[in-house]
Amino acid sequence: MSDLKPATSHFENLLKEQLQRVQKMKNPPPETEFSTVKPIIVGVCWGDGIGPIICQETQRLLEHLMKDEIASGRLQFRPIEGLTIENRVKHMKAIPDDVLEALKACHVILKAPTTTPEKGGPYPNIESANVAMRRELDLFANVRPVKVPSEGLDWVFFRENTEGSYILGSKGIQVTDDLAVDFKVITKQGSERILEMAFKYAADHHINRVTVVTKANVVKTTDGLFLETAERISKQYPQVTWDAWYIDIMTAKLIDPARRTQFKVMVLPNLYGDILTDEAAQFQGGVGTAGSANIGYRYAMFEAIHGSAPRMIEEDRGKYADPSSLIRAAIMMLNHIGFTDRAKKLEMALDICGQYEQKVKITGRDNGATAREFCDYVFETIRDDSLQSRWQASSNQKEA
Ligand code: IPM
Ligand code: MG
Repeated sequence: MSDLKPATSHFENLLKEQLQRVQKMKNPPPETEFSTVKPIIVGVCWGDGIGPIICQETQRLLEHLMKDEIASGRLQFRPIEGLTIENRVKHMKAIPDDVLEALKACHVILKAPTTTPEKGGPYPNIESANVAMRRELDLFANVRPVKVPSEGLDWVFFRENTEGSYILGSKGIQVTDDLAVDFKVITKQGSERILEMAFKYAADHHINRVTVVTKANVVKTTDGLFLETAERISKQYPQVTWDAWYIDIMTAKLIDPARRTQFKVMVLPNLYGDILTDEAAQFQGGVGTAGSANIGYRYAMFEAIHGSAPRMIEEDRGKYADPSSLIRAAIMMLNHIGFTDRAKKLEMALDICGQYEQKVKITGRDNGATAREFCDYVFETIRDDSLQSRWQASSNQKEA
C-alpha cells in the first residue's frame, strides 16, 4: 500500500485554504464607484503572441476616443510591463509579485492574451496568468456577450470565474504513478454572487429568462450545490423565469436553430462556461470576435476570450490577427467605468466594420486585412458624422 500521508495532508491544506476563501467571501469589499475616482487608472497588459498586435490597435482607438479625459487627468492608461511568458518563466510565477502589485494599483485592466503553458510544452508548466489574475483580484464574474442580429441571437453568458475546476487546476495530486486526482470546488457564496449577478442583469434589462447550466445529474455534490443555489436566488426574482439545462444537451441546443434564439442569459460554473462560450462565439465569427469582462467588487479586467494564438505567430500570420475581440472587451470596459457614450460609439463602429458593411475583412491570413488596416477602418468609421444613422440603417437591414 502506498503512503497516502502526503496526498491527504495536501488535501487537508487545500480544504483549509478554501474555507478561508469562504470567510473572505462573506465580507465582500465595497464596489468601486467610478464616478468619484480621479484619475481612473487603466492598466494595460500587452501579453504574448498576437497580444501586442491587437492591444496596440485597441489602445490606439481608446486613446483617440478618450483624448479629452486623458488630457484633463480624468483617465490614465498605464502600461503594465512584465506579464510576458519570458518574465513569468524567469520568476516561475503565473504573475510575478511586482506585476501583481502594479495591477492592484490600477482600477481596471485591459489585458491582451498571455501564453498558457501546458504539460510537455516549450515552457515550464506554470499556472495561466488569466486564472491567477481572476483569483488574485477576485474577479468572480466572467461576462461574455455574443450577438448575431441577423440570426436573432442575443446571448449573455455569466461564467463563474474563481472556482469550479479551475481554482485548484494547478493543485491536483499525482498520488502514485498510476493515480492522479484533480479537484473541483463550488461554494455557496461563490455560486450566490454569480447567480445574483445573472438574475439581476436579466431583471434590469427586462429579460424574462435565465438558463442555468450544470451537469448536476452526474456531478452531484458541486453542481448540485450550484443548482440548489440557483433555485433559491431565483425566488428573489419572481419576474424572471428560469430553467435548468445540462451542459451536454446545451452544447447541442446551441446549434439547434429552432431552440437557440430562445436562450438569453446563461449562468454556469467555470469550465462549462469556458467551453460553451467558445462555441457561442463561433456563431458571431469565431473567438477572435468575442470579448469578455471579468468583474469583481473592487477590480475588473477586460480581455479577449481567446489565447495568444502561438500558431499564428509560428506561421508568421500575427499581423492578420483579428483585434475585434479586444475591442469588444474595451467597449465593455468603457461601459463599466461610466463612459457609455463612447462605448456606444465604438460599438456602432465595430458592428458596422466587423458585421454589417465589412468593407475590410479579416481572415487571419494574407488574403485578408491586417489588424492595422481593420483598425484604420474602425477609426474612420468612428469619425464619420453619420455614424449613428449608418449603424441604424444597417442594423435595421440585418434584423429585417
Ligand atoms: C478563456 C481562456 C482561458 C480559460 C485560458 C487561456 C486559460 O480559454 O478565457 O476562456 O480557460 O479560462
Ligand atoms: Mg476559453
